[in-house]
Amino acid sequence: MKILLLGKDGQVGWELQRSLAVLGELLALNSRSQDFCGDLADLDGIAATVRAWQPDVIVNAAAYTAVDKAQSEPDKAFLINADAVAVLAKAAAETGALLVHYSTDYVFPGNGDRPWREEDAIGPLNVYGQSKLAGEQAIQAAGCRYLILRTCWVYASRGKNFARTMLRLATERDSLGVIDDQFGAPTGAELIADVTAHAVVAIHRAPELAGIYHLAAAGETTWCRYARFVLEQAIQAGAQLNVQPASVTALTTESYPTPARRPLNSRLDTHKLEQAFGFKLPHWQLGVARMLTELNERS
Ligand SMILES: NC(=O)c1ccc[n+]([C@@H]2O[C@H](COP(=O)([O-])OP(=O)(O)OC[C@H]3O[C@@H](n4cnc5c(N)ncnc54)[C@H](OP(=O)(O)O)[C@@H]3O)[C@@H](O)[C@H]2O)c1
Repeated sequence: MKILLLGKDGQVGWELQRSLAVLGELLALNSRSQDFCGDLADLDGIAATVRAWQPDVIVNAAAYTAVDKAQSEPDKAFLINADAVAVLAKAAAETGALLVHYSTDYVFPGNGDRPWREEDAIGPLNVYGQSKLAGEQAIQAAGCRYLILRTCWVYASRGKNFARTMLRLATERDSLGVIDDQFGAPTGAELIADVTAHAVVAIHRAPELAGIYHLAAAGETTWCRYARFVLEQAIQAGAQLNVQPASVTALTTESYPTPARRPLNSRLDTHKLEQAFGFKLPHWQLGVARMLTELNERS
């Protein structure tokens, strides 16, 4: 199997380099790659890459993910999250490749408390969500075989992440306030990458499994409870913190305005994915605890 991976150095892209490597010949690119164009802002360039490499599977982990910034640069968000995705989808339709793409719970309006199902009515609250929805729609209109995985609250042990920020703030400050009315499940880039690799193999054997699915770790929490869990684990591992888990203050979204409106309900119903592929998605605390152990051992 020949695989083209775009966005190789992002949270999910990095883990995909590991999980996809066993499936065949992998060409992994970022926006600065030289031999082949991996810059999604260069629409002709990425179309030429697909034509030249002729992959059986295109995995697009590249995206414009700056949610607040997207409000002031919608053209750039749409270029990367929709126009470039449309080019990939057209190329996949022409070459017969399977297109794997990631989307978000931000395509939904974020109301209520029921986990979103794949067929629920969409209604993004911000430019990022609108651009990701346009990407999904471009794929579905192109007539290619696709696997769209909508996920939420992605973390990884590399780079900037929420857990690491909380740990830093809990040593620098005497108090910490975190949003407590947005609900979702922290979902590890490792989990997303492993699910992707298994799903690609399954679709190779049973093409009718292609389609759109929700992928998130099991369980649910809020950012505030997530922060308390991170601090609890750190204290258990021997960290000296100024802020104790129980004293993290719960904030409302209303009291913490940001340029982009965020959904209160980011819960995703993952039954369709689990049933179709026979997966059992682990509880979010397992992955976060593992990531914290890794961070702790590195420091
Ligand atoms: N992060 C979340 O909480 C979350 C939640 C739901 C869904 N998702 C979706 O999951 C997928 C993976 O997200 P992630 O968390 O791994 O994102 P990420 O860590 O922000 O990685 C995105 C990658 O895209 C690359 N990129 C940006 N513009 C590019 C361009 N013009 N050409 C090529 N690459 C470009 C970035 O590279 P540079 O850094 O070099 O620009 C970065 O490596 C995305 O589709 C995202 O929308 C993420």
